[in-house]
Amino acid sequence: MGENGVFADIIAGDTFKYYSDGEWKVSASGKFVPIINPTNKKIQFKVQACTQEEVNKVMESAKSAQKLWAKTPLWKRAELLHKAAAILKDHKKPIADCLVKEIAKAAKDAATEVVRSGDLISYCAEEGVRVLGEGKFLMSDSFPGNERTKYCLTSKIPLGIVLAIPPFNYPVNLSVSKIAPALIAGNSLVLKPPTQGAVSALHMIHCFHLAGFPKGVISCVTGKGSEIGDFLTMHPGVNCISFTGGDTGIAISKKAGMIPLQMELGGKDACIILEDADLDLASSSIVKGGFSYSGQRCTAVKVVLVMESIADSLVKKVNEKLGKLTVGPPENDCDITPVVTESSANFIEGLVMDAKKKGATFCQEYKRKDNLIWPLLIDNVKPDMRIAWEEPFGPVLPVVRISKVEEGIHHCNASNFGLQGCIFTKDINKAILISDAMETGTVQINSAPARGPDHFPFQGLKDSGIGSQGVTNSINMMTKIKSTVINLPTPSYTMG
Ligand code: G3H
Repeated sequence: MGENGVFADIIAGDTFKYYSDGEWKVSASGKFVPIINPTNKKIQFKVQACTQEEVNKVMESAKSAQKLWAKTPLWKRAELLHKAAAILKDHKKPIADCLVKEIAKAAKDAATEVVRSGDLISYCAEEGVRVLGEGKFLMSDSFPGNERTKYCLTSKIPLGIVLAIPPFNYPVNLSVSKIAPALIAGNSLVLKPPTQGAVSALHMIHCFHLAGFPKGVISCVTGKGSEIGDFLTMHPGVNCISFTGGDTGIAISKKAGMIPLQMELGGKDACIILEDADLDLASSSIVKGGFSYSGQRCTAVKVVLVMESIADSLVKKVNEKLGKLTVGPPENDCDITPVVTESSANFIEGLVMDAKKKGATFCQEYKRKDNLIWPLLIDNVKPDMRIAWEEPFGPVLPVVRISKVEEGIHHCNASNFGLQGCIFTKDINKAILISDAMETGTVQINSAPARGPDHFPFQGLKDSGIGSQGVTNSINMMTKIKSTVINLPTPSYTMG
């Protein structure tokens, strides 16, 4: 893997290096962080445990590099991003192999993640050329009391250093969704990848290195959260944080200080099924939406709210489809693969046992072997059960039966989360009314929640996040407006 071919530089002995000032380096700590393969629970990889001093060096290099990068013509920045995208796609196989071993993502989904990431980088380069290539021109006489004596020119300028912290479930895609907008806008970028997924991310970073980005424009530090986590997020050199993950994001936002934040912190996406829904479509969307990557997606369907009159038919259809899912190792491209860590599996089991104790109906027998949990639909879930509200991040899905659509909307809105939701009905008028009533950043009509396509706006309300993502929104978020005002001694009116 990393020790071979084009990726030879990124590893020393059995430990992957970190990337600082345009070079692959070994940490002076002499320590490493182990990455456990979720499938066999053995140490798969080791990454450097960087020190705070090394973080300081990365920040210094990122700061001086950014000054030059911001002076690099936009078309050249775009060209380098296109190059990185092509290199990334060319090395889909070794990167996907890392994803399989680090986060137990099924092989075909891992390959899709890498290709999707290349496409995102290219799209971002093109969008950046358009979005950043334009400014505004305003004249003072449009505001009451003013003559035309002031011409205001505005353009978008970079923020400085963007700190990107992606989660384990898309260590490549959710890295580039932060890296590409930051770089096209003229920022430098420091990546702190998740521990599970760090090696995939380091391979991805090497593609940027091979594309020829100037040293310091992009860096990547690995290490223990306890050692460098707060140090990074509270570092005075950081001018913007883009974070995707769990409720650590809430703590980060409290400590971060006066800098722009982009946060995506998970969801409890509700799926409301009305009586007139196409149940074949709804059931296949529930299975895809709830169980893809074993439910480890913030946009997974996490609670089904179905009208009582059609609940039996829906549950039957979902169960039939669940019975066809393959369960096993990611190397075999199974639909359900081991969840990322033992503690995740234990957490999921806690939610399942709580529902069992409180009388929910299990449609399948609960089955677990180490980190592998078989898909489970839990029917007749009631509001006193933890699984009605908490995010399992696993292949376990609760069904709450409702007698009125208002109950479904109420359940959705009573959640602390507000990422996405979905509605299944053939009545578009009803769908719009329900969508408007749902307190979530996005509502999908007749499809499962999903972030993509990656240029769509993506945002959460309440504890699900701050700001909006998607290519254009991220570019805008990682810039500031700068105005230059030309003041004339006397009013001047065109053709006047
Ligand atoms: O896990 C959070 C991701 O943003 C979800 O992305 O909808 O493409 O799976 P996805």
